[in-house]
Amino acid sequence: MKAISHKLVLKGSYFTATTVDQVEYQQDRLVCIDEEGRIGQISAPDEAGYQGMIRQAQGEGTFWELAADQYLLPGFIDLHVHAPQWPNAGLALDRPLNEWLSTYTFPLEAKFSNADFAAEVYADLVETLLANGTTTALYFGSVANAGNLELVKACLKQGQRGFVGKVVMDDPDQTPDYYRDSSAQQALQDTEDFILQTQKLTTTSQIKVTSVVMPRFLPSCSPEALAGLGQLAQKYDLPIQSHCSESDWENGYALSTYDKRDAEVLDHFGLLTEKSVMAHGTLLNQDDLALFRQRGTGIAHCPISNAYFGNAVLPAKQVVQQQVKIGLGTDISGGFDPSVYQNLRQALISARMLSDGVDHDLAPEKRGTHAPSLTAQNAFYLATRGGAASLNLPTGQIKPGYFADLQVVHSKYATFMQQSEQDIFEKVMYHTTASEIDQVLVQGQLVVGEKIIAQA
Ligand code: GUN
Ligand code: FE
Repeated sequence: MKAISHKLVLKGSYFTATTVDQVEYQQDRLVCIDEEGRIGQISAPDEAGYQGMIRQAQGEGTFWELAADQYLLPGFIDLHVHAPQWPNAGLALDRPLNEWLSTYTFPLEAKFSNADFAAEVYADLVETLLANGTTTALYFGSVANAGNLELVKACLKQGQRGFVGKVVMDDPDQTPDYYRDSSAQQALQDTEDFILQTQKLTTTSQIKVTSVVMPRFLPSCSPEALAGLGQLAQKYDLPIQSHCSESDWENGYALSTYDKRDAEVLDHFGLLTEKSVMAHGTLLNQDDLALFRQRGTGIAHCPISNAYFGNAVLPAKQVVQQQVKIGLGTDISGGFDPSVYQNLRQALISARMLSDGVDHDLAPEKRGTHAPSLTAQNAFYLATRGGAASLNLPTGQIKPGYFADLQVVHSKYATFMQQSEQDIFEKVMYHTTASEIDQVLVQGQLVVGEKIIAQA
């Protein structure tokens, strides 16, 4: 009997997170990808029909066998990228957040009203993120829609699943004359225009780009703009992204301006929903976290950026244990590196330092929180399933029914002894850079590298 045909049948060994703490390793599986780019059947060597499926796929020119030192992983999800800050990645991280924004960041973002400049930068950024294994990205754009639409087009052209927002910043006391929405009404009108134009651009594409409602953060937005954005998100049933309790300065701004916590103010304006993702959150307290859990709001944990601007370490392990949605973000250019792997590693390092403490003048028992640190498995969960849950997407797992968002990686260094599956997994987490990522697929479409199709 002839089995059903697939767009692609990938034979190889894979890692996928089954829980926050557990990663499953499966060898020599056939991962079948259907025409819509979803994972269909996954077949094991001892199952009846396994050899037949290989022969059929070979005959149909859809069989791809990974090499012995290659592994299949779900594509990563970057929950927080400032796309127009890409040219500044690696610059000026010695400044505090508010000074960094006004001196370095706003002047650069203002240039993205020029569509040609935006197209050039965004083509390079999307290509770079894909090469680093990021199959889905949640992007902050800039104020001007001319540039934001170029980001939508770059995602569509290169086949990355994008979530893109027009940044709103209309408060004249907190934003410069040269880079601001001219009024709350204009900001809301431009946001709605962007939503409608993005819908139009993405109607025929298989891999979708979704528009996102984006108040930059409380200090840059008027209450009218915040209220209107909450209503727009509801009207179009869209995701929302902003920054929340990122630094002492930002956290303090909500308290001094509204006499409430950052999270409470965002919630008051209808901006904490099950489709919201709030960046950083280094200073969220237990009440804030309870509110996030109640609303189903996710956190974009950006550990590299947080080391510079966060003024504290987000206790990621405790957040995930409290069943608050959480994934990883690069926060380019508050974070200097476009790789989610690099942020996964920093998440592990920061969590360890939070637990152990850092001040050598203190006795060991007083030095840190002594709370359990993240494990490599936890960090992998954040980069895959945690990000997918925050965006309510069927991705981040190698499992039937999920999008075939995948990366093929190989080991970076030689191995000198027999490797357990745990050894292989940890080395992949700690060593992978873009150079070790051989292929990337988004929804079954190859977007990085070459397909290796074996003929019968
Ligand atoms: N808060 C408001 N805007 C920004 C930004 O661009 N980067 C970071 N890290 N925090 C912000
Ligand atoms: Fe940010």
